[in-house]
Amino acid sequence: VTPWGVYVHVPWCRARCPYCAFAIVPEAGPAPWRPYVAALSREWARRAPAFPGRPDTLFLGGGTPSRLPPAAIAEIISLVRPVPGAEISAEANPDDLDDAWLHGAMHAGVTRVSLGVQTLQTAAARRLGRAHTLAQASTAIARLAAAPLASWSVDLIFAVPGQTLAHLDADLDAILSANPPHVATYGLTIEPGTAFARATARGSLPAVADTRWREMYDRIVARLAEAGLPRYEVSNFARPGHRCRHNEGYWTDRPYAGLGPGAHGYAPDGARWSNAAPLSAWQAADEPGGTAASPLPRQAAIDLLVSGVRGLDGVSTARLASRTGLRCDPDVVALLVAGGALQDRASHLTLAPGGYPICDAVVARLAGALQPAQ
Ligand SMILES: C[S@@+](CC[C@H](N)C(=O)[O-])C[C@H]1O[C@@H](n2cnc3c(N)ncnc32)[C@H](O)[C@@H]1O
Ligand code: SF4
Repeated sequence: VTPWGVYVHVPWCRARCPYCAFAIVPEAGPAPWRPYVAALSREWARRAPAFPGRPDTLFLGGGTPSRLPPAAIAEIISLVRPVPGAEISAEANPDDLDDAWLHGAMHAGVTRVSLGVQTLQTAAARRLGRAHTLAQASTAIARLAAAPLASWSVDLIFAVPGQTLAHLDADLDAILSANPPHVATYGLTIEPGTAFARATARGSLPAVADTRWREMYDRIVARLAEAGLPRYEVSNFARPGHRCRHNEGYWTDRPYAGLGPGAHGYAPDGARWSNAAPLSAWQAADEPGGTAASPLPRQAAIDLLVSGVRGLDGVSTARLASRTGLRCDPDVVALLVAGGALQDRASHLTLAPGGYPICDAVVARLAGALQPAQ
């Protein structure tokens, strides 16, 4: 039986943040979760035959899974039936994470909570337009630190226009003082179609220089390593034993059933699908739901490179060749290795320290260098 995971996309958020382009539904009141869970159940009934056995990771992502009451989370968990001891993660926003929700979610089976803090500095928080207050964020972090969870994580955003290195240091100080076992950090990207993209076009949102981005990223990597949280992926840092097993699955080419609006999936037989993103379209979908395809070799090779190069184990060149019949031009690999962007360790291509900040460019170069394996 192939081990695999399940991703469930929970679409609701209290309001859309001005930088976010994810498939979400703004809903200030309670989430209308019953028809949603019923649609998840119909979708899982259609997808499950391609997934023999039971999952050992479940990730509730969003959107904002903490907009779901624990009763809904319990129903989703009993639907996909993870094995005993499975990692069951839920993303949560500070304004939802009160004692009742946290204990209800743990009682339902959640073992790991990932908290969207983003920043604890007033100016950056105002700029990011988050729905929570800084006090709520600090209280939520303390709550997670005190809870009997297997693990927990904090999400941070850096390279916010106007943010200084001193602000970033203050964020890291505040977060590290709670001793988190896992941290994820993302440099702010200006996504097309967002309020931030419109503000940038109007000239009212200053751009952050690449050099500043790099300075901040390097500072985060150094400070988290010093605090006992080494990097295990471009944006993810963990104490030993606290890596997110579900997300590691994406970087090691492990199949996953992606359920819910806008979710993508990848079955053990290699078939991929992507669901309709609007909640109503996904809820109305019937057989087979979403667009399904077995990718062509070149696309399969690019998928392997995109997801695999960023993880610690990298992409096995033998696996790349056996799965797709392709390899990356050895001259290009040698150039990237010589330039300090890539490592070729025992025929596994992984990022070198100099490649992490330019991961997308390294992957694009490798994808452009695909050729038939001999
Ligand atoms: C899609 S959110 C879901 C979790 C939760 N709703 C939240 O906002 O924290 C997952 C993470 O994506 C990151 N994110 C979303 N949009 C981003 C952007 N434009 N640039 C950088 N990071 C972004 C945030 O750090 C966020 O924690
Ligand atoms: S960043 Fe998180 S809370 Fe904000 S709109 Fe996106 S998914 Fe929702």
